[in-house]
Amino acid sequence: MKIIAVIGAGTMGNGIAHVFAQQGFQVHLIDTQEAALQKAMATIDKNLDRQIAKNTILPDQKINTLQSITTFTNMELGVKDADMIIEAATENIEIKKSIFKNMDAFAKKDCILATNTSSISITQLGAATQRPENVIGMHFMNPVPVMKLVEIIYSQQTLPEVTQKIVALTEQLGKVPCVVKDFPGFISNRILMPMINEAIIALSEGVSDAKTIDQIMKLGMAHPMGPLQLADYIGLDVCHNILMILQEGFHNAKYAPCSLLVDMVKSGKLGVKSGEGFYKYPTP
Ligand SMILES: NC(=O)c1ccc[n+]([C@@H]2O[C@H](COP(=O)([O-])OP(=O)(O)OC[C@H]3O[C@@H](n4cnc5c(N)ncnc54)[C@H](O)[C@@H]3O)[C@@H](O)[C@H]2O)c1
Repeated sequence: MKIIAVIGAGTMGNGIAHVFAQQGFQVHLIDTQEAALQKAMATIDKNLDRQIAKNTILPDQKINTLQSITTFTNMELGVKDADMIIEAATENIEIKKSIFKNMDAFAKKDCILATNTSSISITQLGAATQRPENVIGMHFMNPVPVMKLVEIIYSQQTLPEVTQKIVALTEQLGKVPCVVKDFPGFISNRILMPMINEAIIALSEGVSDAKTIDQIMKLGMAHPMGPLQLADYIGLDVCHNILMILQEGFHNAKYAPCSLLVDMVKSGKLGVKSGEGFYKYPTP
């Protein structure tokens, strides 16, 4: 694989482009918004400077990495030569299905189509294409240049050799692949989101305050961040949507987002991105 196309240049897309370019791949970074592409390149530039300051890369590597990334607002031009595509666009099933349909139409016949979705079924996205055997989940964690885990999700249609290729590619990036079956929430969010929901339930029952709940999980369970603070960083709307997907996917009310979470989302308290969640943040 030489050319990797990344669709969506937001929080995750810029990080994914960064790590592939740094490993010597040619990266085509695609977004419908020119402003998003410019912001992504500025973020990559800043993050590479951080790596130089920490002595993890040399200044020459920064130049090579930036030169390996080409930006596109036209998807067809960006994907037609790609050996593999990673979709990291907005978490919305209709947007993703339409992107998968277009990727399938424009990409080379043997090109693997991967998605960075946190919660949407890989099988459903595969069904939007004529090549479900070449569709796979490649779930990077935020921030991508720092986090080692890549959760790799195969559907019933994904060919075992496609999974093997993505495992090898993940290792080539210096990351750790963990392979799981396509089930709602995969493993990461199936376990994380009920924990976050339970922390919110405990808060709403008045068992303790947010700071104490987080402190207990940090000091007692060696979590680097408490569940409520983590929820603020992920975005309370995102947590809410993933819990809904778990509830619907498993037909089980135990995953239902608790009423405090629902109310906070309704009132626009979305965490860091809105300036307030369980804690207050400088307005973005
Ligand atoms: N943010 C996280 O912590 C995180 C972690 C793991 C996985 N994810 C997943 O990664 C994906 C991207 O999340 P994000 O946080 O980077 O989102 P984001 O909102 O920061 O960025 C999404 C980008 O997609 C672009 N986009 C929308 N429609 C498009 C289209 N048709 N073609 C090309 N670009 C399009 C938008 O302009 C935007 O720049 C989602 O599926 C999300 O679930 C997010």
